[in-house]
Amino acid sequence: MANGKIHIFDTTLRDGEQVPGCKLNSREKLELALQLEALGVDIIEAGFPISSPGDFASVEMIAKAVKNATVCGLSRAVQKDIETAAAALKHAARPRIHTGIGTSDSHIKAKFNATREEILERAVQAVKWARNFTDDVEFYAEDAGRTQNEYLARVVEAVIKAGATVVNIPDTTGYCLPHQYGEKIAYLINNVPNVDKAILSCHCHNDLGLATANSIAGIIAGARQIECTINGLGERAGNTSLEEVVMVIKQHPDMGFHTNINTKALNPMSRLVSDTMRMPVQPNKAIVGANAFSHSSGIHQDGFLKDAQTYEIINPVEVGADLSKIVLTARSGRSALAFRFRKLGFDFTRNDIDTLYEQFLQVADRKKEVGDEDLLDMAKQHQPESILN
Ligand code: KIV
Ligand code: ZN
Repeated sequence: MANGKIHIFDTTLRDGEQVPGCKLNSREKLELALQLEALGVDIIEAGFPISSPGDFASVEMIAKAVKNATVCGLSRAVQKDIETAAAALKHAARPRIHTGIGTSDSHIKAKFNATREEILERAVQAVKWARNFTDDVEFYAEDAGRTQNEYLARVVEAVIKAGATVVNIPDTTGYCLPHQYGEKIAYLINNVPNVDKAILSCHCHNDLGLATANSIAGIIAGARQIECTINGLGERAGNTSLEEVVMVIKQHPDMGFHTNINTKALNPMSRLVSDTMRMPVQPNKAIVGANAFSHSSGIHQDGFLKDAQTYEIINPVEVGADLSKIVLTARSGRSALAFRFRKLGFDFTRNDIDTLYEQFLQVADRKKEVGDEDLLDMAKQHQPESILN
């Protein structure tokens, strides 16, 4: 599959860790980094070394321990930041410095009180400086989602000329619609003369719930790296969720993309991040939510029990999730009830199930979910048809 490899850049330990309450100590960060490497991520953004001595120490520890994945440290387009990131990454087998600056007019005016030309010059200087320490330099054009395309193209061309090997096009505020983000990437592919010398990267935030869709639009348009986090953690409404983009790519092989991720490790990884960061996963979260493979309405249950593919596009085994569940509620039907009785060892006839179903509905209307104990009570009190005849 030529040119279809999508590099997975995990930023759980940097953008994900910026979530209030998710702060990790160095030991926790190291453990997660090693599991991310085992999961198959290509690049681990380990932290922002200048931000605190603790983060410097974490990045340094991760850089020493991780052998196969690239280890990346964030910096602003500031000489001291870049030097500190380089120092933290000194022992990495594959070090990457991720440096950058805001390029939207809003960032240029409000944050830097500068002009577009001044920002372009600072971007170039930052990349040149970072290249003194490593050959692998990624540049981020912060708020690229709201940056005018012509100016963005000039910045991208200049930083590639200065030595950037990856250029990150962040939709920092999660503002873009998928077609707009895709068009932005396509514009850069078509208008930056040296774009073939670098990989374009998608870094999409989820403020409008579009991060996954935008990242996929980005790779369709020609980007070859996605920046994402486990469980979609990240600033405000979060980042692109790693498990979602990986499974979109896997479930749609016709797009011609692939990743290096061992998808069977996705659910265990999600649980580990959730426990370590003390951040529960919403039950209806795609791929890793507790209900992602639960069926509760009668119509769905009946179809699922006839053929799982009627209501499931992913086999839970493929993503390391528990087997699909048939949950009994007042919306469930007879086939689900019979199925659950069979799992408990009761093979009732159709007439038995008809009788039991009336009792079941009464219990189900009182309770949110009917469990095994309720079913055992019903089974004990029931006189099976075979005994009556
Ligand atoms: O969202 C963003 O723009 C970022 C950059 C620092 C890469 O996280
Ligand atoms: Zn971000």
